[in-house]
Amino acid sequence: MALQQTKPAPPDADKRWKLVNAAMRRNGYAGHALIEALHAVQDAFGYLDETSLRFVAESLDLPPSKVYGVATFYHLFTLKPKGRHACVVCTGTACYIKGAGGLIEGVEQGFGVVPGETTPDDRLSVLTARCVGACGLAPAVVLDGAVLGKQTPDALVAELNRLE
Ligand code: FES
Repeated sequence: MALQQTKPAPPDADKRWKLVNAAMRRNGYAGHALIEALHAVQDAFGYLDETSLRFVAESLDLPPSKVYGVATFYHLFTLKPKGRHACVVCTGTACYIKGAGGLIEGVEQGFGVVPGETTPDDRLSVLTARCVGACGLAPAVVLDGAVLGKQTPDALVAELNRLE
């Protein structure tokens, strides 16, 4: 049984870290639960980036190289997209019921990209997440880290059109 250790604070005040922490806690912060922890990050954020990989490495007390290695080896993990802006459409149950599918269609019609793709000009990457922790605001989108609640396709496309 591992000794109780102080765990690193989440990188910022984003509530989605709570979902990630809950997944790691369920596994007693054990290193063997790395894949599950990475899934939790991807489910909540839509992709893995340097900040989240470092946080998981510190929390599980693993070398960052190991965490990066696993994240890049398995095709089921999505690394930070190359677009200047990242639009993560939540497709969890609450958001799905409230019209997440319409948001994805709206973005596809407006920008010609489906989740997992980036516009040819590298302006926008579109991803999906399983629950971004804002079910009360369904359907929710996270645009560059900011939660946009109760979205409609038109409102979302207009918001995305405003991006530089
Ligand atoms: S299902 Fe979309 S925020 Fe929870």
